[in-house]
Amino acid sequence: MCGIVGYVGERRAAPLLLDGLRRLEYRGYDSAGLAMVTPLSPDGPGKGYGLDVIRRVGFVAELVKAVPEDLPGCTGVGHTRWATHGGVTEINAHPHVDAVERIAVIHNGIIENFASLRAHLEEEGVEFRSETDSEVLAHLIRKFYAGDPVEAVRSALAVVTGTWGIAVVFADHPEMIVASRNGSPLVVGKGDGETFLASDPHALASYTRSIVYLEDREIVKITREGWEISRLDGRKVSHAIEELGLELGSSEKGTFPHFMLKEIHEQPESLSRCLLGRVVPETGGAKLGGFDLSPREIVGIRRLGILGCGTSFHAGLVGALAMEQLARLPAFAEIASEFRYRNPVISSDDLFFAISQSGETADTIGAVQEAQTKGGRVMGVVNVVGSTIARTCARGVYVHSGPEIAVASTKAFTSQVAALLVASLMFGRSRMLGPAEGRAFGEDLLGVPERMRGWLETYGMAHTGPIVDAVELLIKARFVFFLGRGVSAAVAMEGALKLKEVAYIPCMSYPAAEMKHGPIALIDKQTPVVAIVPDDVMRDKTLSNVQEVRARGARVILIHTEGDHEAARLAEVAIPVPRASALITPLLSVLPLQLFAYRAGLALGRDIDRPRNLAKSVTVE
Ligand code: M6R
Repeated sequence: MCGIVGYVGERRAAPLLLDGLRRLEYRGYDSAGLAMVTPLSPDGPGKGYGLDVIRRVGFVAELVKAVPEDLPGCTGVGHTRWATHGGVTEINAHPHVDAVERIAVIHNGIIENFASLRAHLEEEGVEFRSETDSEVLAHLIRKFYAGDPVEAVRSALAVVTGTWGIAVVFADHPEMIVASRNGSPLVVGKGDGETFLASDPHALASYTRSIVYLEDREIVKITREGWEISRLDGRKVSHAIEELGLELGSSEKGTFPHFMLKEIHEQPESLSRCLLGRVVPETGGAKLGGFDLSPREIVGIRRLGILGCGTSFHAGLVGALAMEQLARLPAFAEIASEFRYRNPVISSDDLFFAISQSGETADTIGAVQEAQTKGGRVMGVVNVVGSTIARTCARGVYVHSGPEIAVASTKAFTSQVAALLVASLMFGRSRMLGPAEGRAFGEDLLGVPERMRGWLETYGMAHTGPIVDAVELLIKARFVFFLGRGVSAAVAMEGALKLKEVAYIPCMSYPAAEMKHGPIALIDKQTPVVAIVPDDVMRDKTLSNVQEVRARGARVILIHTEGDHEAARLAEVAIPVPRASALITPLLSVLPLQLFAYRAGLALGRDIDRPRNLAKSVTVE
């Protein structure tokens, strides 16, 4: 979603800010802008400083064209905006300035009381230029400004409710940025005689590895020499500098035309990384050190809730089924945005997993806070190291997918599923699962990366064959059904989500038996139905459902276990995936669905890595 970068130092800031904004492009946005503190006279700063604000609708490339190559100024802030309040226009793009254009503000998040603040400021004679909630910040800071930038921002934020990551520059203070966070991440980074600011450490990776994450309700004064952090209530705080992980630097496309394709093909490696050292064949069990739970504590858990959004929620559905099967632990997965507001009943022996690729999803953070408020224990299952969810949950595990840049999540899904399967094995061995069953499951899991690699070598880049045939059917469809049962119902949901978000093809997913309770009325002779039918205990039942849609003319694309020729015969297009035990099948059956979305998106000319209206991390609720 929206991105923030800032720089104070000795170099010209504009190229650094534009580079930082480019690195944040993957998060999704619809306009971009920057504000530079520049000398008022071309002869130098003798006549003081002013602000240069440049904004453009569209990609950062448009902003790059608009920014003069020799734009002076060694202090500035840059922003990518994902519209919430007000349309996608240049006027609504950030930065926003005060009436006399001496203060510029960029803002991520939502100011919830902006309407009343705006009305109040308008009564005082302030004229607003944009429709955004963020503009109130510029005018409020001006109102409270009496020479001290930090105190002005602090006073302005005292009357604001909502979420923010903000960065503010003042023409009167040409070597300073003031920033604050509440629910929207910010990180500061130290260089030699220069200091950086960003909403995502990706933007800083080429400039510094010494960083500090701000906490909620903190405010920071940033200068060339470093930073001073305090709480909004005035208390001073200091944070130890952390080292930015090396993996953050490797977010390049390489030889692949799109990040999504690269990330699909990275799955054998990302999955191996996720499993490394965690499955213990000797004991038939597993170890996730980050959970730090003794067998006795595991036995004491009465219920597990897995909270997440989108693809992460789908991984959670698989995890909940695995936890029930392997550990006989009552488990459910729930969409975080629903959980956080339904006043859930939580007891102290409930355990929750907050599952998130980015670790910054606002609704998942809200669900974590709700569970913690009610005394539940929450552990993170997160990809991005050091992210808000990782830090908010006292314990947790990283899924180690590496940077996922495409908006459509692929490798994070398989790593999330794998991490939850490992957790189920670990919990299972302390509860109901015997060593032989545990060993067999663990060994099957450890063999998946190789099976994935083989499958991707055969089908991943093929120019002919069943994936191509299936995509031919899908791109002509008015809408597509995805069906499955058990863990394959979760895979069906994931396949439908991928095709919607990347190819913009309307899709529905249903547990297969549910079709006859209504949705089957939609089937006609044009309707592709993607059925996920691994050779598990539900195979025959699901094949009966496939027969039902076939009988009504549906064009069946069937994902089946290698060698299951009887199932394959029911399909117009049959796609085999390697055999695996039932709970593990999602790691393999999702691969063709990811390729469907990628190839259909490509055929339809979609913006594969940055689909319209979407953001990589959804930092507003
Ligand atoms: O970063 P998170 O895993 O918390 O993100 C959750 C969803 O926003 C995300 O999975 C989204 O659904 C993806 N774009 C799906 O491909």
